[in-house]
Amino acid sequence: MTGNMRVLVAGGAGFIGSHMTKMLRETGHEAVVYDNLSHGHRDAVSQAQLVVGDLADSRRLDSLFAAHRFDVVMHFASFIEVGESVSNPAKYYRNNLANMATLLAAMAQHGVARIIFSSSAAVYGEPGCVPIRECHPQQPVNPYGRTKHMAEKLLADYGRVHGLGYTCLRYFNAAGSDPDGMLGERHTPETHLIPLALQAASGRRSCVTVFGTDYDTPDGTCIRDYVHVTDICRAHLRAMDRLCAGATSGAFNLGSENGYSVREVVQAVSRVTGRPVPVVETGRRRGDATRLVADARLARSELAWSPRYPDLDTMIAHAWAWEQKTVGAESRRTGSVRVGGLVAASG
Ligand code: UFG
Repeated sequence: MTGNMRVLVAGGAGFIGSHMTKMLRETGHEAVVYDNLSHGHRDAVSQAQLVVGDLADSRRLDSLFAAHRFDVVMHFASFIEVGESVSNPAKYYRNNLANMATLLAAMAQHGVARIIFSSSAAVYGEPGCVPIRECHPQQPVNPYGRTKHMAEKLLADYGRVHGLGYTCLRYFNAAGSDPDGMLGERHTPETHLIPLALQAASGRRSCVTVFGTDYDTPDGTCIRDYVHVTDICRAHLRAMDRLCAGATSGAFNLGSENGYSVREVVQAVSRVTGRPVPVVETGRRRGDATRLVADARLARSELAWSPRYPDLDTMIAHAWAWEQKTVGAESRRTGSVRVGGLVAASG
């Protein structure tokens, strides 16, 4: 393993970034978080310095890089909602692509030569075959996926000119939460399936909506590969070691290599929580691929990575602990308790 690294965690107040920051600190590295708090949370960064700023702000980035001699940048500060990217593509191209170019320019100017980039299974679009290998053709089916695809190209072009070493980690569906219970998923609005189903189980929402039941899958709903957030973070540590050891740039899938349909996920949430999860079925969500399942052999061999928590029920159990903590905090704040979907006064 490489020695202690000084890491800039762009987007380190968000879901995956905050877990990464915690893991970096726990493994003896220094971390500085740069986040505009548009989606992240100040209290998710308890173990590192937080600099509040935007990736579009090149002067701010310049002073940040001048103040810290970073060894590595980890870039989590992208927008991630597939549906929103379809309705508001400019927002995605601006942040996920233009702002990334600004970040890379600051890195080049200050001689920071390594970056680990949060890419996505969305680069593949509607795959011709599953499980998906890294060499599969990339034909993204939504603007979000296109920004990730183009960002990988940007890295390659930048790498050639500036000698930048990069690793693109193509996450499949990030899930679960910190097994210690300190961090979890807190998107506003929440759009992801597992936290929404958990909120339906806890009574924080009345039901979960199933988007599309007419896909070409055994039960008609989309299939995804869920990968535990801390497994994603562990892959970043491996990728950092590998880059620092002088390995060539590249891209790796991060998935558990198991596909679960939307209905199977909802059933698993009900099984793990012991609660009913009311479901409403509706039409397809625009931009959704039918089936995304990783072939993660390259990460296994090149990064010596394998998921510690590949089991869907374990991911859901960790996320359920976080959901219950959230419900508990909400009850203490409002003095109310939830019974099913109803709120009742406590005491
Ligand atoms: N879904 C529902 N109801 C909901 C929310 C989601 O049926 O209320 C379905 C979606 O249609 C999809 C599946 O559940 O079929 C998973 O949807 P998510 O929104 O949880 O996740 P996505 O697959 O859309 O996207 C996530 C990340 C992306 C990443 C992608 C890769 O947000 O960053 O996984 O698979 F690229």
